[in-house]
Amino acid sequence: MCEWVEESDSEGTYLKTKKYEGKLYVSIIPGNIKDHLESLQQLEVREDDTFILSYPKSGTHWVFTIASMLRTGNSAYIGSPHFLDYNDVDYLNKLPSPRLLASHMTFDRLPLQVREGKGKVFVVSRNPKDVAVSLYTFLMKLKTKDFSGSWEGFLRFYMEGKIVYGSWFDTLFDWEKIKTTYKGDNIMYLVYEEMKQDLLSEINKMATFLGVEYDKSFLEEVTERNQFKTMVKTIIEEIKPQDQQFIHKVSDEKKLPIYRKGEVGDWKNHFTVAQNEAFDRLYQEQMRDCKCTFRFD
Ligand code: A3P
Repeated sequence: MCEWVEESDSEGTYLKTKKYEGKLYVSIIPGNIKDHLESLQQLEVREDDTFILSYPKSGTHWVFTIASMLRTGNSAYIGSPHFLDYNDVDYLNKLPSPRLLASHMTFDRLPLQVREGKGKVFVVSRNPKDVAVSLYTFLMKLKTKDFSGSWEGFLRFYMEGKIVYGSWFDTLFDWEKIKTTYKGDNIMYLVYEEMKQDLLSEINKMATFLGVEYDKSFLEEVTERNQFKTMVKTIIEEIKPQDQQFIHKVSDEKKLPIYRKGEVGDWKNHFTVAQNEAFDRLYQEQMRDCKCTFRFD
């Protein structure tokens, strides 16, 4: 059964969320979660559907924007993705193709047809220290006060996995398991830090994966339009208000709260030496059997 969960500590850190089958979800998921997850399983998937999956603040909007340009052959910005997590299936069914659908949920929660190989899936991950800073700043800007507290309190909750969508480590391990067990070829794994390092090369690989062909100049244009500085400068002017409805519903910010710093290593401006040491200990312990590594600067 789905239940409301409230966590708090003596220092005023507070989290309110919905829990279902041991996992914490955002409170805006409609109803009892169970009905929504069951109806998602039956979603009719289209061949040209694209799914963007991530732990929050790992670059979901970035990958979504690139994928939308590659899917449509048009370099216009189109706002935020529709999330599987909190849009009902009737609404998702009515969206025109090509659909670009995002989720922060695990693989087993995706529509059955995706897990049978239909549509294409991008999974993006990012180092957990920058995710922590990005998530904390984002949560503090939301109108729904599902989380409140200091950075220190947030980090404590985050390290214990007491946060929306649970532990960063558990999400990573879930995807690592899918990498070795899932036989389909409709998943491409992306890493935020690698995209920062050589975006054109990652965009080329994404186009190949989607099976779309463009001349070099279009791919360069997509790359330029997806550089952080360009996006921040132009996206606000170019996105139609109706395409940003969701963001404005959840936040009072005039500026889109998604685009903040877009850097690798900003965590150094937030973690104290002691916090960093504690996080490193947790990281070593949790990642001891995991082959993947992350770049932190
Ligand atoms: P920061 O808060 O560290 O700046 P998501 O879309 O999953 O919510 O992720 C948001 C994070 O991705 C934010 O991180 C945001 O700035 C970053 N981001 C968005 N577009 C980006 C881009 N073009 N280049 C680099 N980072 C980007």
